[in-house]
Amino acid sequence: MKRKLSLTLRLTLFYFFSSWLVLLVFSGVIILAIQHHFKLQDQQKLQGKLQIINNIISRVTIHNNTNSQLSENLRSALVGHEDLQVLISDSKKTVLYRSQNSTLSSEFVAFEMAIGASKPFHWTRDKQSYFGIIAALAQAQRSIIVVLAFNQNNHDTFMIPFKKTLLSCTLIAALISGILGWLVTRRGLLPLYLIKDKALKVTASQLDQRMPDSDVPIEISGLAVALNQMLERLEYAFTRLTQFSNEIAHELRTPLSNLMIQTQVALSKPRDIDTYRGVLESNVEEYQRLTSMLTDMLFLAKADNSINLVNAEAINLAEEAANLFEFYDALAEGQNISLKLSANHVANTVINGDVSMIRRAISNLLSNAIRHTPKHGSIEIVIGKTLQYTSLSVINSGPDIPSSILSHIFERFYTVAHSDKKHGLTEGTGLGLAITQAIIKAHQGEIVVTSNGGFTCFQLIFREGKQASQ
Ligand SMILES: Nc1ncnc2c1ncn2[C@@H]1O[C@H](COP(=O)(O)OP(=O)(O)O)[C@@H](O)[C@H]1O
Ligand SMILES: [Mg+2]
Repeated sequence: MKRKLSLTLRLTLFYFFSSWLVLLVFSGVIILAIQHHFKLQDQQKLQGKLQIINNIISRVTIHNNTNSQLSENLRSALVGHEDLQVLISDSKKTVLYRSQNSTLSSEFVAFEMAIGASKPFHWTRDKQSYFGIIAALAQAQRSIIVVLAFNQNNHDTFMIPFKKTLLSCTLIAALISGILGWLVTRRGLLPLYLIKDKALKVTASQLDQRMPDSDVPIEISGLAVALNQMLERLEYAFTRLTQFSNEIAHELRTPLSNLMIQTQVALSKPRDIDTYRGVLESNVEEYQRLTSMLTDMLFLAKADNSINLVNAEAINLAEEAANLFEFYDALAEGQNISLKLSANHVANTVINGDVSMIRRAISNLLSNAIRHTPKHGSIEIVIGKTLQYTSLSVINSGPDIPSSILSHIFERFYTVAHSDKKHGLTEGTGLGLAITQAIIKAHQGEIVVTSNGGFTCFQLIFREGKQASQ
């Protein structure tokens, strides 16, 4: 796989090139401004000198060969301006005056004639660049051409080293900016390295590790918080799973060792057929208990983990309760327990959910109620509805559940042993209420228990609209 550039390197290069570009543009502007400044300065000087020369020429009478007075005057007027090249000629290209440093030729006269230029302009001749002015002055009957020029190559003595220095400075500044960028990026990414170190420490036995989420930049604290929440969920699920498997192992150990001991005792010496039958029958009972416990545990695991209700459909609570009454009728009748359904004043008892799960939840409450209702007692299912929720309560008469027990009844495998199996229901596994609670939670509802005044009430609350969204 192609190795990608690290973020630090990318940002460092970005800082370097972007600041270099900005500095180069900036330097370009400075160079242009200086060149413009030189041009203005030269322009002003040219105009000034032209004026002076004009004055001198107007005061001196020029004869063909006697230019000594003109030369004298010009030389003294141009003292201190050795960089200025001067050429004065007449229209016939006869040179009347030429400054010492002048490389100008009288051909400019013809040039000036051709373009009629009187403004300063640039030209290049023999690899020398000039900025100058060519002006025609009238004196008596003669036309006199004055050429004034600055050799621009003189500016290069300043500009070339200046440009080199400027370029080196931009490069050094860009390098410094790149190094600073590298430092800032490394510092900025430091929390990510901390998170990486922490993440490396997370193992099944060390799920309590948390990412540092304070004292880090906001962008990273968001990530750290999200990771911490994920770890929290994982830790919770993992703890539950561990607890669950521990509980399963613990709960299965007793019936399995019972079965083993019973069978080993039976096999320890020859016995008659009735004894063997008795042992097998007792084993069958234990197997049944084990089977129902395993089914319950599987169901609980399903309700606990696969919280999304794939089979959500409309469930009529009143109908479901009535159907369950039919099933439990015989059992209740045997104990002279009356079963009653009160849903008459509720027009709509429909909720959304998984019908088999809801049936199981109500059935668990009913079987508990039947087991705990004394003879001649009563069990009532009341369906209520408010603006916010629909509820189903299973109320049975019987001794109040002590508060010490009440706080534990929803725990898995929590069961209070009963001396008599009076109602013909097999002894519970302590998973019934845990399953009911898991089911109701999966439906985004809640289960509330109250037990006082000789009545125990388990109320299932389904919030309006919540189950439908599942
Ligand atoms: N209607 C009820 N009246 C009194 N006690 C109850 C009732 N329902 C549940 N309990 C108590 O809650 C405990 C846990 O119930 P459950 O989880 O269904 O387990 P199990 O029925 O297998 O014992 C029961 O052992 C019992 O002590
Ligand atoms: Mg039960």
